[in-house]
Amino acid sequence: MPITTCIFDAYGTLFDVASAARELAEQPGREDFAKHAAKLSNDWRLKQLQYTWLRAITGAHADFWQVTQDGLDFALEASGLSGDHVLRETLLALYWELQAYPEVPEVLASLKEQGKNVAILSNGSPAMLEGAVDRAELNDLLDEVLSVESVGVFKPHRSVYELVGKTFGCTPKEVLFVSSNGWDAAGAAGFGFQTVWVNRAGDPMDRLPWTPQNTLSDLTTVPDLAMRL
Ligand code: LAC
Repeated sequence: MPITTCIFDAYGTLFDVASAARELAEQPGREDFAKHAAKLSNDWRLKQLQYTWLRAITGAHADFWQVTQDGLDFALEASGLSGDHVLRETLLALYWELQAYPEVPEVLASLKEQGKNVAILSNGSPAMLEGAVDRAELNDLLDEVLSVESVGVFKPHRSVYELVGKTFGCTPKEVLFVSSNGWDAAGAAGFGFQTVWVNRAGDPMDRLPWTPQNTLSDLTTVPDLAMRL
């Protein structure tokens, strides 16, 4: 079935979540932090995501800003950096303005030229997403920025993916859902979307009951795929 609607995950897919720690590590005088940056960034992301799943399972929802701070606090402590409040605030401020991957504006523009609906569907809170979209100057290239906050539970809960049909009046099969998070691409495939897993790091496929139909190494060829399907 032809694709009418392209939906992008935000964190890790359009926005580089490692850019917060990386930007800080590259600043002069931050040589000590630079030694911890890779582990910290990895722990931060892992814990942030684990907390979303645990909150979804237990019904203890808090917004993504809260779990982002909780994940960072765990990661700072795991690297012996939890006493450094300035570091914490600096990293959180950088998370508000993550870098978009370089190909993002061109990919979104080309999907708009094809006449597709183009939107974000993210765990992010509306304010966080607004910050990232503003910094990357993507406002004119997106029809909607959909946040899980309108349903009060994180991905991969079905009610999150249902937001797409409610917003654009399309069936799941008309949607191409793009995520660099393997579990999100799998969850979206289970929901019935056509899916792309963007596997930049060459990671193994998540072992889940559902499999994304397409795997790409970055976003560059998403418009070609959307046209062909
Ligand atoms: C998001 C998380 C999964 O943007 O990265 O929804």
